Amino acid sequence: MSKIQITLNGVARSAEVEDRTLLVSFIRDTLQLTGTHVGCDTTQCGACTVHVDGRAIKSCTMLAVQADGATVTTIEGMATGETLHPVQQAFSECHGLQCGYCTPGMVMAVADLLRRHPHPTDAQIEHGLEGNICRCTGYVNIVRSVRRAAELMAAR
Ligand code: FES
Ligand code: FES
Repeated sequence: MSKIQITLNGVARSAEVEDRTLLVSFIRDTLQLTGTHVGCDTTQCGACTVHVDGRAIKSCTMLAVQADGATVTTIEGMATGETLHPVQQAFSECHGLQCGYCTPGMVMAVADLLRRHPHPTDAQIEHGLEGNICRCTGYVNIVRSVRRAAELMAAR
């Protein structure tokens, strides 16, 4: 067991974890934040994407102990009060989801994509989404959502 401390959605959290505990399990099971989903557990689907020190990572691919000292943001930390993050707003406006299972991971990945590329090209959007699998939407409305999110963020 190891004691770890992270700043999660702006709040300092600490806990004892087994060294083998995945970050996604720590977030969902220990900290009880279940907005971060598990779709595969094998680094393929992106449903578990969170931000660690500002970068999107698949939290099924990282051990909780590796996040010791880090700042972690999950989907629950994206909105400000009742105001959605622009990426969440864009997915809502553009119907960028159906069942919603992939959506938390998509939102986190897109937020990081737009941090790196505020005005992304089609190729940058395609590359930015390639680690996130959606079984429902066919991606057309997700790509629309990315473009809309870029507009909303530029207007802030
Ligand atoms: S659950 Fe992490 S990539 Fe699928
Ligand atoms: S909306 Fe269902 S998996 Fe993407």
